[in-house]
Amino acid sequence: MRIEDLLGNFVSVRISGFVPETSRCRTLQFSMNETMKFCPGQFLMVWVPGVDEVPMSISKWTPPVAEITVLNIGEATKALISMATGDWIGIRGPFGKSFDTDSKRALVVGGGVGMAPLRPLVYNLLEEGAEVTLLIAAKTKNDLVFHREFSEQTNSAFRLITTTDDGSSGFKGMATEGVTELLNIREFDTLYTCGPELMMAKLFRLATKAGIGFQASLERFMKCGCGICGTCAMDPTGDLVCLDGPVFTGVQLKKLSDFGRHYRDQMGSKKEC
Ligand SMILES: Cc1cc2nc3c(=O)[nH]c(=O)nc-3n(C[C@H](O)[C@H](O)[C@H](O)COP(=O)(O)OP(=O)(O)OC[C@H]3O[C@@H](n4cnc5c(N)ncnc54)[C@H](O)[C@@H]3O)c2cc1C
Ligand code: FES
Repeated sequence: MRIEDLLGNFVSVRISGFVPETSRCRTLQFSMNETMKFCPGQFLMVWVPGVDEVPMSISKWTPPVAEITVLNIGEATKALISMATGDWIGIRGPFGKSFDTDSKRALVVGGGVGMAPLRPLVYNLLEEGAEVTLLIAAKTKNDLVFHREFSEQTNSAFRLITTTDDGSSGFKGMATEGVTELLNIREFDTLYTCGPELMMAKLFRLATKAGIGFQASLERFMKCGCGICGTCAMDPTGDLVCLDGPVFTGVQLKKLSDFGRHYRDQMGSKKEC
């Protein structure tokens, strides 16, 4: 393999547009090479000049326009969402394993900005003829990511449900409580999810109990994004989230004792989720 391919063929791109999503979350648009191959769940390494390089899911790919949806939680994400049209960023990728879209009756559960990799997944599943129930979860109505977009979806195979901690939209309570109710009244073959890891670990237990497939997109600190540095290794198997993930199946997650329990910080020290 050429070193450029391994490192993801770095390109500089200019921000061409923005879409406001919530008060702390914004979608950034930029042009990529039209031949870029992308599957839902894959991510880019995004270089923010003078600040850092961070992993970001591709939240939409309509060649040549790519979108990333950024939640402001720290230095790099704050710099990203504060950028202006015409500003430069650097891009490598796409990297990582994508979601398998062989479901016929999918339950898709997104918490917060975890909706970013799930957005193209939902469209892909619908295109392939699946019935899709999407549950978007957030603290309040104003924090629901892509709610307006999906509430305008007219495909009869699509159903949208929301849960909020304060009850300002949809079911009042946690995503896991909403999913417990859904699994009692509807049949699904696969639960797809991305969001806070404790939520995903609980959803894994619910999916296992219901006897359905499970796929989750995990987050870990990343430096190289392409299997070189080991920063994103999971115990005890040493699976790399950037290379073997970020999407893992239930069968794989069963072997990862770190899932829902521990992650490593930027210095490599183990911390509780
Ligand atoms: C595969 C993948 C896809 C991602 N996709 C998106 C996306 O689409 N949109 C988006 O907004 N974010 C996404 N993220 C998360 C994003 O990369 C981080 O939020 C970002 O790197 C934080 O950088 P920062 O400099 O803003 O924050 P920092 O200043 O580095 O961190 C701020 C705080 O968040 C904590 N933190 C940061 N990253 C992590 C982590 N991985 N695990 C645990 N704690 C952490 C830090 O410890 C610190 O307390 C993704 C991450 C991965 C691995
Ligand atoms: S980020 Fe370097 S190996 Fe995964």
